[in-house]
Amino acid sequence: MGVKFEHVTKAYPGHKPAVNELSLEVQTGELLVLIGPSGCGKTTSLRMINRLEEPTSGTIYVDGRDVCSYDPIELRRGIGYAIQQTGLLPHMTIEQNIELVPRLLKWDKKRRHERTRELLSLVDMDYDTFASRYPRQLSGGQQQRIGVLRALATDPPVILMDEPFGALDPISRESLQTELKRLQSRLRKTIVFVTHDIDEAMRLGDRIAILQDGQLHQIGTPQELVQAPRDEFVAKFMGRLFNFPKIQTSVDLIGQFMQEDTSHVHQECSEHGKIVKIDHLPLWCWIDRNGVLRGVSSQPPTGADQWDRNDWTDPKLAAVKDTDASEVVLKRLIEGEAEALPVIGEGEQFIGVVTQRSALKALSNVEMENDE
Ligand SMILES: Nc1ncnc2c1ncn2[C@@H]1O[C@H](COP(=O)(O)OP(=O)(O)OP(=O)(O)O)[C@@H](O)[C@H]1O
Ligand SMILES: [Mg+2]
Repeated sequence: MGVKFEHVTKAYPGHKPAVNELSLEVQTGELLVLIGPSGCGKTTSLRMINRLEEPTSGTIYVDGRDVCSYDPIELRRGIGYAIQQTGLLPHMTIEQNIELVPRLLKWDKKRRHERTRELLSLVDMDYDTFASRYPRQLSGGQQQRIGVLRALATDPPVILMDEPFGALDPISRESLQTELKRLQSRLRKTIVFVTHDIDEAMRLGDRIAILQDGQLHQIGTPQELVQAPRDEFVAKFMGRLFNFPKIQTSVDLIGQFMQEDTSHVHQECSEHGKIVKIDHLPLWCWIDRNGVLRGVSSQPPTGADQWDRNDWTDPKLAAVKDTDASEVVLKRLIEGEAEALPVIGEGEQFIGVVTQRSALKALSNVEMENDE
């Protein structure tokens, strides 16, 4: 069961639109993360899916059908919803909380009870220990687990989660993320997951949609967003993966950890320029007579015609620019995309390389600065 937004706008009278011409599609079985600054319209977008809000214009489809054509009860039956404050009712036990929706759907007692046991075991919480407790007798992390279980209770194909782990310390948060990932790999629900936290988005999202001022700014897999951010806003956003409070401009840092002139010529040709091998690294660069980087390779060029374009990777993919956000460059290196990446400056001139080693060194310098 997929979810699709088609030119969806939500405008509250007297305000600029909370959601503005939003079009995107969540595939069946996909976990899509909505992320963006506070007030950019994440919660509003979510609440329009299960008709807690109605769009001002545009259409939302669930399972290919306009949500407005569903009976709201029938619609919500197919959609689980977990919110930040867990929404657990304080005067009801854990079991009663989990059973709320099944009761609404008139499941009999036996079936409800079995389901509650099954759900608790999904997150390794013992039924006899926890079922009869009240929410306040649980830790924050346990309460959030129950919030998630409650959204799963009737096994809906679509689940909406609005910062479900927002209130947790980083360690509990990470363990719940791991748990959700594990559950999702088994259950394959269609999940729309709202968060502020880019680490969480990277960890959980099959794809990430970045919203800004109610509009879709960029959507893609985590890899795509890191490697090809549409603009500075996205690059900065992805850059928050590394908190570098002291570093002002990206040029500075790339400059700091870029190595210049550590190559020797592998082959030269008056027509095509030269191929250089970067010292101590599996990296060959083809630089033309004007100093422009034409190709990148992690293998020594051996073919009959070493200038054959097909043997080289396009620098657009395999090089970085000296103006790229340093965090993005560091991330590419640290994730192991390559041991080293060539750096190009203005006019795509080859100016040096950045290496995993220099990246790690730059990172540890930054950490030390921040510790002071
Ligand atoms: N009932 C309302 N009346 C008027 N404006 C509203 C209403 N609900 C939300 N808004 C406005 O719509 C915009 C989007 O709100 P929304 O709650 O969707 O943001 P969000 O992205 O979830 O933010 P946060 O990350 O802080 O939760 C905000 O500017 C908010 O003030
Ligand atoms: Mg919100």
